[in-house]
Amino acid sequence: MGYSIVVASNTKSKLAHLTKICEEDYEKKLQNVLERRMGAEEFKKYRNEYMSSYDPELQISRKFLPVNTITLNLSDKCNFKCKMCDVPSLSQKQNIETKSAEEYLEFASEIGVKCCIIGSGSEVTLSHNWKEIVAKSLELFPDVVLFTNGSIISLKDIEWLSDLGLARIFFSLDSAYKETFEIIRGYNLLEQIEKKIHHVVSYRESKNRPSPLVRVSFVKQEVNSSEQEVFIQKWLGKVDSIELQDLIDLDNMFVDNIDNEIDYLKEKNVKPWCHYPFAYSCLWSNGAVSPCCTPYGRDMLDITYTNVQSIRDWKSQLESNQKILRQKFTSQDWDQLPSTCKHCLVKQIKNRLHQED
Ligand SMILES: C[S@@+](CC[C@H](N)C(=O)[O-])C[C@H]1O[C@@H](n2cnc3c(N)ncnc32)[C@H](O)[C@@H]1O
Repeated sequence: MGYSIVVASNTKSKLAHLTKICEEDYEKKLQNVLERRMGAEEFKKYRNEYMSSYDPELQISRKFLPVNTITLNLSDKCNFKCKMCDVPSLSQKQNIETKSAEEYLEFASEIGVKCCIIGSGSEVTLSHNWKEIVAKSLELFPDVVLFTNGSIISLKDIEWLSDLGLARIFFSLDSAYKETFEIIRGYNLLEQIEKKIHHVVSYRESKNRPSPLVRVSFVKQEVNSSEQEVFIQKWLGKVDSIELQDLIDLDNMFVDNIDNEIDYLKEKNVKPWCHYPFAYSCLWSNGAVSPCCTPYGRDMLDITYTNVQSIRDWKSQLESNQKILRQKFTSQDWDQLPSTCKHCLVKQIKNRLHQED
């Protein structure tokens, strides 16, 4: 069966985190969902601005555009035990206060954010207030995206989300077979979760609506390496996108001899770039806001902009620290970057070179 592959990354800096596979044009489907909510012009502007965050040259001239995507994590809890993930071992078990989360959502809406991604860093359906927050987000943003492992969400919840206007829902599966699912994700629940995924599609079809768009994802690792193609063929044409993601090796997030590595990249004239400070602003369950939704963004203080729970003047602190980080990136000078960004970028470049070998 034929399919199109989009490497959803900065083709200029060639930092490929993921490969998106779709039978039909995903952007057209998203356009079909969002144009009726925001109009054709606004949709075009939204997607162009998002795509432009991957382009250093465009950002150098447009660096003060507000971000258009936020992420929101209500807690740091997860009920799964995915072998490649550190969320289940986080000891803090923090929950953001509903009031703080809502203030952040309102602020984001005021500055023109269009996309709100809920639950990308933990399991949102474990939070007592998850529906309240999703409903509030749907009032404020046209493109609301929910991440879930699919274990707790019910068929009724799926219908409620669809009726309310959820634009996209992402299920992480990482496997085509139930045995592999259990090894990677810790529980024998693949078949139950698959039924829920099919229900999202059949319910939306029964209502003759184009959303929510459905994504299934697959983090590439040794244990599932032989079933990647089976996974693609299993879901192609059944959901709207299949995403193959590179594994982040959480035991090796920092690079030895970083200064030598950077000297080497400078010699090769490789300039640093990351789209996150230009496109994203991420709220974590302890109230911290950072530029990216990776474990670096969650844990590292040198890229934390502010804290919505402990800093009274968090809005202006967020804006000024974001501006400073953007200036560092638009300088395209490795020496100006925060240490965390240096490690993350060097790691990605090394992985990419390794894959190309
Ligand atoms: C941390 S989970 C949280 C959201 C939700 N509970 C879920 O399972 O989708 C978000 C995504 O990160 C992926 N993930 C977890 N650990 C990873 C790692 N070490 N490298 C790359 N992706 C990872 C998961 O497979 C999932 O797609």
